[in-house]
Amino acid sequence: MPAIVIVGAQWGDEGKGKIVDIYTERADMVVRFGGGPNAGHTLVVDHQKFVVRLVPSGILRQGTTCVLAQGMVIDPRSLVTELDELESRGIKTSGRLLVSDRAHVIFPYHVLVDGLREGEGKKDAIGTTKRGVGPCYEDKFARRGVPLGAFRDVQKLREMTQRALAEWSPVIRHLGGDVPRLDDVLAAIAPTRERIVPLLVDTQSLVERAVRARKNVVLEGAQGTLLDVDHGTYPFVTSSTPTAGGACVGAGVGPTRIDEVVGLVKAYTTRVGGGPFPTELHDEVGESIRKVGAEFGSVTGRPRRTGWLDLPALRYAVRVNGLDALAVTKLDVLTGLDAVKVCVAYDTSHGRTEDLPLDEFGTVTPVYQTFKGWTQPLGGARSMADLPREARAYLDFVEAKGECPFILVSVGPARDETILLRDPFGPQAAC
Ligand code: IMP
Repeated sequence: MPAIVIVGAQWGDEGKGKIVDIYTERADMVVRFGGGPNAGHTLVVDHQKFVVRLVPSGILRQGTTCVLAQGMVIDPRSLVTELDELESRGIKTSGRLLVSDRAHVIFPYHVLVDGLREGEGKKDAIGTTKRGVGPCYEDKFARRGVPLGAFRDVQKLREMTQRALAEWSPVIRHLGGDVPRLDDVLAAIAPTRERIVPLLVDTQSLVERAVRARKNVVLEGAQGTLLDVDHGTYPFVTSSTPTAGGACVGAGVGPTRIDEVVGLVKAYTTRVGGGPFPTELHDEVGESIRKVGAEFGSVTGRPRRTGWLDLPALRYAVRVNGLDALAVTKLDVLTGLDAVKVCVAYDTSHGRTEDLPLDEFGTVTPVYQTFKGWTQPLGGARSMADLPREARAYLDFVEAKGECPFILVSVGPARDETILLRDPFGPQAAC
């Protein structure tokens, strides 16, 4: 069984929770390699809804080891709350969740700075999740961050936190905030120490050993390609690397050890927060997609912006991630629309292009191809032949123009509402 990387091909929220859950049925290990509590995966199992933020979706499968790797930033209070919630609903986490001692700690002052920068009506706001993710990565790359391993030594934790807080103090004052006292910061996280320290390990060697032993390892991405700090719609991005290369860096697995990279693409597009979104809909069709698709942020509850599928953006994701296969999600949400559109190119100031002009993404005009809609419910479809002709025509076009074969199509939120086109762990078809 291979090591498989699963990434979002759009702006996140592609329905990773359900798809990773399908993959984890036979996974020995599920690893999150980047981001932090800005992610939110919604899972529906036996009509029960679970939302996980830090913990990988694999936690719902009893035989699976879940790993939070060193590429992540972790708010210890969020982690403990999440573990408590899972345990209270009968999901055993002890002994099944391991956390890197090199993942970085999100402190209350990171959350404070994120909130102050993004405050009401701020003109240059990014629209972050205000979970302190960006400021925590700033500390990490400025080489003054605090890895979770510091939780093992109170004195060291105090010294490291003091140093980082001193750097943030003028920034907090400049933003009009009150600088928190070191003792209060430490007191806020102190109760989490005894829960978290036993979970800490060197996850790099753990994951790498599992991959070498040909265990079933799923590296679960968060966010999406266009939110990548290097490859996304900068500066309207997150502060990590949600693309496939980020899996190697964040988990500590060499690229030659990855067997397959799967991209998730929703049958339409959504985006949360600010930034360009050429195919965005501002009409009742966009509203209907939001309502039917329950497109509200699972972390912040914010309504997601909705729009048509963007093929130049999809092809870009296929290339940047080196995708081997695409999993299409939420096709059922489009049921009932008179027409379904898909962006095939853009008109730019330099003429028409089928590539992704990231530099002028805010000013391009999408060129659409229109498909006839369908009205039949899709939830019962288990093969492509079960789909209405119109839905198939749409999918065939997306697969051909997306330049990557489909591995599955999701037609509803439940595990079994899925058209599986090949064994997720079987030999792959090259793009
Ligand atoms: P941050 O990651 O909280 O700093 O937010 C930066 C940008 O990424 C904002 O536009 C967020 O809405 C977006 N973002 C972060 N995490 C997710 C996610 O899991 N899904 C969708 N958008 C996200």
